[in-house]
Amino acid sequence: MSQQQKTIIVTGASQGIGAGVVEAFLARGYQVVATSRSISKSAAFVPSERLALVDGDIADMATAATVVQTAIQKFGGIDGLVNNAGIFIAKSFLDYSKDDFAALVRTNLEGYLYISQLVIRQMLVQQRGGSIVGISSTLVEAPNSALTAAVPMFTKGGIEAISRSLASEFAKDGIRVNVVAPGSVDTPLLHGVPQDFLKSLHPMGTISSVADIADAVLYLTEAKQVTGEVLRVDGGAHNGKW
Ligand SMILES: NC(=O)c1ccc[n+]([C@@H]2O[C@H](COP(=O)([O-])OP(=O)(O)OC[C@H]3O[C@@H](n4cnc5c(N)ncnc54)[C@H](OP(=O)(O)O)[C@@H]3O)[C@@H](O)[C@H]2O)c1
Repeated sequence: MSQQQKTIIVTGASQGIGAGVVEAFLARGYQVVATSRSISKSAAFVPSERLALVDGDIADMATAATVVQTAIQKFGGIDGLVNNAGIFIAKSFLDYSKDDFAALVRTNLEGYLYISQLVIRQMLVQQRGGSIVGISSTLVEAPNSALTAAVPMFTKGGIEAISRSLASEFAKDGIRVNVVAPGSVDTPLLHGVPQDFLKSLHPMGTISSVADIADAVLYLTEAKQVTGEVLRVDGGAHNGKW
């Protein structure tokens, strides 16, 4: 995609990776619809000619519909979607409750499903292709007994699976569907977790920055020949034992 007059939707955009992705797309000249439950009340962004803010729970169909309508009415269409909103609950498998599971399914899976359906429907009407990028986790492919998260990975693995299916189903329409799989990223999601422990999860001994992940999202959004891909940005955590 060229960066001129393109419109992208970013979910979970009020902080962390989502906010960094919004900044990266604005810097590239995109028009952006940024959404989260309380983005207009957060200090993250001020609406402008190229930035619309929509509040709402992305697991609700009504929020997804409002976000898509905002993109169409304010910017005239949709070229890309970044399904970033997500939650993480780390504990032993035996300790997950029904409420934990319901919350993970709602945000991580329903939050992907409804808006992706609406966005693809609009992209098919526009007939100019488009891009969807989801965010999974390196722990899907490379679990680590030092950070047990089986049930969140149940949902994140689903994002990788549906992305491959959608990449296949809509390839002929020029709609590409990819995933970024981060390791540990310096965001509020991991505040309170000791830095030394997070570094120990990457063979490179690093913690990724939000910009590292935003760069990967930008790449996949614009990579015309790449679809059905999972791009791991994890300091090598997926790559064997160290
Ligand atoms: N940080 C990491 O190390 C890491 C590693 C692997 C994968 N990831 C994934 O990367 C994504 C972003 O993570 P992050 O670290 O940036 O998280 P974060 O700092 O906790 O930010 C999460 C964002 O999602 C929004 N959000 C949460 N639940 C929502 C809902 N139901 N509806 C709408 N918005 C919602 C939050 O805003 P509101 O509170 O305003 O709704 C916030 O903007 C997630 O999918 C996460 O699983 C992160």
